[in-house]
Amino acid sequence: MFESTPTAAPDAIFGLSEAFRADPRADKINLGIGVYRDELGHTPVLAAVKEAEARLLAKQTSKSYLAIEGTEAYGRAVQALLLGDSSEVITGDRVLTAHTPGGTGALRVAGDLLRAQSPETTIWLPEPTWVNHHQVFGAVGLAIGNYPYFDHQSNRIDFEAMLTAVEAMPPGDVVLTHGCCHNPTGADLTPDQWRLLAATLKERRLLPLVDIAYQGFASGLEADVEGLRALCHEGPETVICSSFSKNFALYNERVGALTIVTSTTDAVAAVTSQVKQCIRSTYSNPPAHGGAIVTTILEDDELRREWQEELARMKQRVQAMRRLFVAGLDDRQVSMSSEGNDFLVHQHGMFSFSGLKERHVAQLRDQHAIYVVGSGRVNFAAMTADNMPRICDAIAAVI
Ligand code: LMR
Repeated sequence: MFESTPTAAPDAIFGLSEAFRADPRADKINLGIGVYRDELGHTPVLAAVKEAEARLLAKQTSKSYLAIEGTEAYGRAVQALLLGDSSEVITGDRVLTAHTPGGTGALRVAGDLLRAQSPETTIWLPEPTWVNHHQVFGAVGLAIGNYPYFDHQSNRIDFEAMLTAVEAMPPGDVVLTHGCCHNPTGADLTPDQWRLLAATLKERRLLPLVDIAYQGFASGLEADVEGLRALCHEGPETVICSSFSKNFALYNERVGALTIVTSTTDAVAAVTSQVKQCIRSTYSNPPAHGGAIVTTILEDDELRREWQEELARMKQRVQAMRRLFVAGLDDRQVSMSSEGNDFLVHQHGMFSFSGLKERHVAQLRDQHAIYVVGSGRVNFAAMTADNMPRICDAIAAVI
């Protein structure tokens, strides 16, 4: 079976981390994988998470299986966070949530479900998008299309081109958008653009699929889901794949959710049954611990407040690093675009396309032990006041 198995290419993001770990240079810096680090360069367990874990450990009496779709309490907590307590789709019983292993698990189950429901469907991805979107939807056998999203010259969204492409898509297709903190560009739609997109998707009978992995890292927990809520409000159907890896720093607990808004209350039971079939044949049922942590925090006023404060501090630190990076480049008279570096301050979340080309990325790795994704995407959440001078000096040297 395996004698002549060819070697697969390393993953663009995790493969970079493997190369980073193997690098013996003491002063190496990893600006690749999207993991938050504090000012000391650590990825700590949040205090609210530690407290929730202590409570869980004290009261845990069994490690028996969860239901295929996870617990009701987790589903309710996810829906309230994404859609708002008083959302009309919640009060109207038009929504279901399944607890999945991470946001990637949600994408995979969504892909399996879409392929089973409508094998001819094309899923349209923004150009560019998170590299794993191509792998996940390719693996389930869905046809993949790309729509224009980002203009590399101006470092802004090309909304006109995006809308024109959406208007030309065949009815029944699926359009993936990033809820906030677009990965890899950091360029998000404005509330007006979301509303226009929502109306266009509805008119063209296209199904929105929102991937949201950074709620709380752009403007705030509520503001970051305005676009997603506009899509759900416009309707009739929306698919949401969400992750708690970043905003609860629960990376290795693999905790995410697939939420589907249906057009009628009656459809919920049937869609749930199909989702359960997809899950059962993939990972059977979800791992309990991460979901229990999230539920404990979201159901407890004190823990929730503590978590929100910790999340706000993470967001503020990443924004501060964006400003420090731009100041560092400006000081060295390095310009990452024809209009300077300010675009990096206005973008959202952990990532931006820095403007570094593949040859710069290779030089940064080989000559300076600084690891950047091949596309030039940098992770501001891995920058600190301490490593910033070295990062900016190295970029100045290779540009
Ligand atoms: C990233 O884009 O770096 C993160 O979302 C981690 C991952 O799974 O790729």
